[in-house]
Amino acid sequence: MSTTFTLFPRLTRPKFQPIIRAQHTHTMKKPQIYLDHASTTPLDPKVLKAILPYFSEKYGNPESLHEKGKEALIAVDDARETIAKFLNCRSREVIFCGTATEANNLAIFGTARANKDKGNHLITTKIEHSSVTEPFKQLEKEGFKVTYLDVDNEGFVNPEDVARALTPKTTLVSIMYANNEIGTIEPIKKIGRILAQHKAYFHTDACQAVGVESLDTKALNLDMMTINGSKIYGPKGIAVLYIKRDTKIEPLIHGGMHEFNMRAGTHNTPAIVGFAKAFDLIQKNKKNAHITKLRDKLIEGLLSKIPRSHINGPKGKTISHRLPNNINITIKSINAQEAVLHLDDAGIFVSTGSACKMGTPSPSNTLKALGLPRPQTLSTLRITLGKTTTEKEIDYVIRTLPKIIENLRNT
Ligand SMILES: Cc1ncc(COP(=O)(O)O)c(C=O)c1O
Repeated sequence: MSTTFTLFPRLTRPKFQPIIRAQHTHTMKKPQIYLDHASTTPLDPKVLKAILPYFSEKYGNPESLHEKGKEALIAVDDARETIAKFLNCRSREVIFCGTATEANNLAIFGTARANKDKGNHLITTKIEHSSVTEPFKQLEKEGFKVTYLDVDNEGFVNPEDVARALTPKTTLVSIMYANNEIGTIEPIKKIGRILAQHKAYFHTDACQAVGVESLDTKALNLDMMTINGSKIYGPKGIAVLYIKRDTKIEPLIHGGMHEFNMRAGTHNTPAIVGFAKAFDLIQKNKKNAHITKLRDKLIEGLLSKIPRSHINGPKGKTISHRLPNNINITIKSINAQEAVLHLDDAGIFVSTGSACKMGTPSPSNTLKALGLPRPQTLSTLRITLGKTTTEKEIDYVIRTLPKIIENLRNT
């Protein structure tokens, strides 16, 4: 199938016209090239199959004593055990939550407030997801002191900076495992070794690291870890907070005695079953070598065809510490939101920075922390590949994106 490009007025969003739209000689249907997997992934068909009975005949509440309840309880317990096995922890240490946002809130508010008598100092970084940053900002209003660690120009936290920031009053350190915007994989194991000598709890938001890095909570010396379903071809609206036994933490949601008194509310059995299935699939069938090859081809293709562009995050010597599916590219003198809409017209779905920031003109904290000047933070695209991404799709993006950029720069 060959593809040509013409200028095409976009009627629904006149602000962005004229625009390039893909036209296909055989069908007029635009392609559907989804390259926004860091935002969310499609549901794996095997996960869908596993989930469906829990929406229909297996509808019981796991808390009920009768057969229908027991059937659901067994499913929830099995899911918990599957996840615990991969995290190298006890199943009672796996707490199901509604979202990773909730799990991060539980970890941060839960331990900071429960340990206030021991100290009011907390440590995090300048590149965390908003579901980590915002709880810390709230805790500052409650009288806590928060150290926001700098990162280097590729987004790496220096473990020695963590060691230097610790005080006798530090009760919690929260550092993400892999960054959702620039794909930097943080030295969590090294930081864990430092924190093993200190009483502060160690939490990591590992949402983007599942299927890529080890999640062995013991080897990493973690006290808490957040993971979610929507980034691993599982359902949206389901997450886990691993909480090490004997961690002093208070719940956020009060009500029934669900989740060992740590998170009240009826279990979302289909989502829990689907999460465990997705987790099992991604641990057993990693596609990272294939995705990495396509990522590197796309990086090379775009940099060679788009003047005044550069990659943010690990590259060169450090590229092995970059998520296999992540490309974050600054293309000077363009408006990234406009580029996203033009790409959408051509059937290519990408994002600007982090999905949660879509629509807000404020620059990404992560890009700011790298030292990018403001105009460049607003000229940056995030392209994230997935396990079904094909070389043909990558070739199409290499042909299409540079033309769109050229056009944008000339209008
Ligand atoms: C690193 C990271 N943490 C947390 C979240 C929030 O996940 P959820 O949508 O499940 O609340 C995301 C989602 O974008 C993420 O990428």
